[in-house]
Amino acid sequence: MIMGMSDDMKLAPDAMLGPSRLEMPEKAATVEWGEYRASVLCQVCHGVGLLGNQPPDPASPPAPDLRTTQSWGLDGFIKTIREGVTPSDRHLDAAFMPWKQIGHLDDVELEALYKYIGTL
Ligand code: HEC
Repeated sequence: MIMGMSDDMKLAPDAMLGPSRLEMPEKAATVEWGEYRASVLCQVCHGVGLLGNQPPDPASPPAPDLRTTQSWGLDGFIKTIREGVTPSDRHLDAAFMPWKQIGHLDDVELEALYKYIGTL
């Protein structure tokens, strides 16, 4: 006899999961994954659609519109996030832009974010 999933579990109606439950896409270098990660990781500071915003910390400089990063190319984007320095040699303040933490995201995650930003 196979143990595990009971008939009761299979019968649980979808409604029990709650109406506001977010569909989590599959992790891949896709626009869908990038949009999901941006909503969780970047939007709080860079604003809805990553079009630029004042972060919650009033002492922070504004978080820029990220569409400008598309001129950097994927490699330039990844390098900026990993090293905290933009292609135009601007040093990002780690106290306000958490590039050290974000830099730990793997290449798949960063490529997904870059692709999503390309759709904005
Ligand atoms: C806690 C707030 C915060 C979060 C979260 C955050 N950022 Fe930022 N980000 C900033 C601020 C503030 C700046 C500007 C820093 C500076 O001028 O030194 C910035 C700058 C940047 C820049 C440089 C843009 C430019 O044109 O120079 C990039 C790229 C960037 N962020 C990407 C991201 C991505 C991608 C995420 C999510 C994975 C993210 N940030 C999450 C606050 C944040």
